[in-house]
Amino acid sequence: MMERRKDTYYKKAKKQGYSSRAAYKLIDIDRKFPILFPGMRVLEIGSSPGGWTDVLMERNPANLVCVDLSAGKGSDFPINIKGDITRGETWERIREVMGDGFDLFLSDAMAHTSGQHDRDHGASVNICNAIMEHCNGFLLPGGTVVLKQFQGDMTGPFVEKYKKMFRKSYITKPPSSRSESSEIYIIFSRFIPSVE
Ligand SMILES: C[S@@+](CC[C@H](N)C(=O)[O-])C[C@H]1O[C@@H](n2cnc3c(N)ncnc32)[C@H](O)[C@@H]1O
Repeated sequence: MMERRKDTYYKKAKKQGYSSRAAYKLIDIDRKFPILFPGMRVLEIGSSPGGWTDVLMERNPANLVCVDLSAGKGSDFPINIKGDITRGETWERIREVMGDGFDLFLSDAMAHTSGQHDRDHGASVNICNAIMEHCNGFLLPGGTVVLKQFQGDMTGPFVEKYKKMFRKSYITKPPSSRSESSEIYIIFSRFIPSVE
């Protein structure tokens, strides 16, 4: 366990002042599919302990709303919401601070892994569905969504279901993601809001 924790990315994050090694996953994703730009308005889900938030803050966002089951670091900005993204009340709190809407949804959220693949896959698809069901009303036209998912049988149908709402979709596994983990990141870009 200690060996795993102290891998190259863990040491690099410590040296560069990032709150977690996960920071490099967002850096890797952005290097391959540029998604971050100054002045962006971002909803970050599963933000704790804060590695992705550190990377986002370096890019000078106009708005950054961080949601996690755990409390975020107390400050005026970014805005931290302690809540469960699968619950409607959390989205109501997001609505209060979102302004015109978001250019980017980012989710690195994952409940505690049980070690049982089907269970962990199902839990991650559940979180991803809750997020995708809120694109309309929260994500601006042309917006982007990046979601962590534990890959499994439901990944293909999940991408098929939601890709119609976007012009492009991709699946990526950042080099900094542990090879033994089934986690992947799904990217949907250029959102086309529903006219209903
Ligand atoms: C792998 S960590 C995220 C690491 C983070 N991206 C970073 O860079 O430090 C996953 C986070 O997802 C959060 N999470 C899990 N289920 C959630 C849910 N339903 N709603 C909100 N956050 C959730 C957990 O509390 C945990 O902090």
